[in-house]
Amino acid sequence: MQSVILVTGGTGTLGREVVRRLLEDEHEVRVLSRHGRPEGDRLPVEWSEGDLKTGAGLDAALTGVDAVVHCATVGGRGDVAMTRRLTRAALRIGRPHVVYVSVVGVDRARSVSFCRAKAECERIVEECGLPWTVLRATQFHSLITRAVRAQRWLPVVLTLGGGVRLQPMAEQEAASRLAGLAVGRPQGRVPDVAGPEIRTARDLARTAARAQGLHRPVVAVRLPGKGFREVRDGALLAPGRAVGLVGFEEYMAA
Ligand SMILES: NC(=O)c1ccc[n+]([C@@H]2O[C@H](COP(=O)([O-])OP(=O)(O)OC[C@H]3O[C@@H](n4cnc5c(N)ncnc54)[C@H](OP(=O)(O)O)[C@@H]3O)[C@@H](O)[C@H]2O)c1
Repeated sequence: MQSVILVTGGTGTLGREVVRRLLEDEHEVRVLSRHGRPEGDRLPVEWSEGDLKTGAGLDAALTGVDAVVHCATVGGRGDVAMTRRLTRAALRIGRPHVVYVSVVGVDRARSVSFCRAKAECERIVEECGLPWTVLRATQFHSLITRAVRAQRWLPVVLTLGGGVRLQPMAEQEAASRLAGLAVGRPQGRVPDVAGPEIRTARDLARTAARAQGLHRPVVAVRLPGKGFREVRDGALLAPGRAVGLVGFEEYMAA
C-alpha cells in the first residue's frame, strides 16, 4: 500500500537517500527543510518548509502523514530539543509512526556527549507515546571522505589515533533499511546495521586522502578522556551486524 512519509533532514546525506528509496517504491514523500525548495529541483516530492528548532511549519508538515523518518540533525544537544519538538507535534497531529536513526554503540560510548544526546533522542522516541522504530547505524563512508576533504588546505590529514577502529557503511544501505522500516509496522528497536569491514581510522583516512589526491602525512591523534577510550575499545562497532555490502573503496569508486 502506498504511504505518505515525511522525511525530516530529507535534504541531508542520509535523508536524501531515504527520499530516493521511498520514491523508487512509489510512496508519497514530503521533505521537511528549513529552506525553500532549491531552484531547479524536480524531485516529485512535496516540500514543507519548517524548522525543528522553533517548531515553525511542523503542524502543516505532519498533517496527513503515515510515518516520519527523522533524519534531521545538528549534532549533540540540539538534536534532543528537535526530537522532543517533533514527537510532541506528531502526538497532536495524526500520531504517525516515527522511525528514528541513531548510532551504533550510543549506550556504550556514554562519555561521548554526542552519543549521550543520541541515546536521549532514542529515549524520547521510545517513550513519547507514538508507534516507533529505532535503527542504529555505524558511521557512513561519506563522513570519512568529507572529514578528509575538509582538511585539504592543511599540510597534514588529522584523524583519530590510538588504534581507533571504525566500521563504516554506505549511507545508501542505511537509507534502504530505513525506507523499508518506514512503510512497515512499528518494530521498536531493530537490529543494528554496520559496514562490511572494521578498519582503523588511520587506514580509512589514508585511503580517502589517497583517493582524493592528497599526498600528505596522515597524523593520528590520541585524545584525552574516557570517551576516547570507550571508542578505542570498540564502542562504535557491531561486528556481529556487518550487513552492509559496500566497502569503503567500492563506495569511493562509485
Ligand atoms: N553521518 C553519519 O556517519 C551517521 C551515521 C549513523 C547515523 N547518523 C544519523 O543519521 C542522521 C542524519 O545524518 P546526516 O549525516 O545525513 O546529516 P546531515 O547531512 O548533516 O543533514 C542534516 C539535516 O538536518 C536538517 N536540519 C538541521 N537543522 C534543522 C532544523 N532546525 N529543522 C529542520 N531540519 C533541520 C537539514 O535540513 P535543511 O538544511 O534542509 O533544513 C539537513 O537535511 C542523524 O540523526 C545522524 O546522527 C549519521
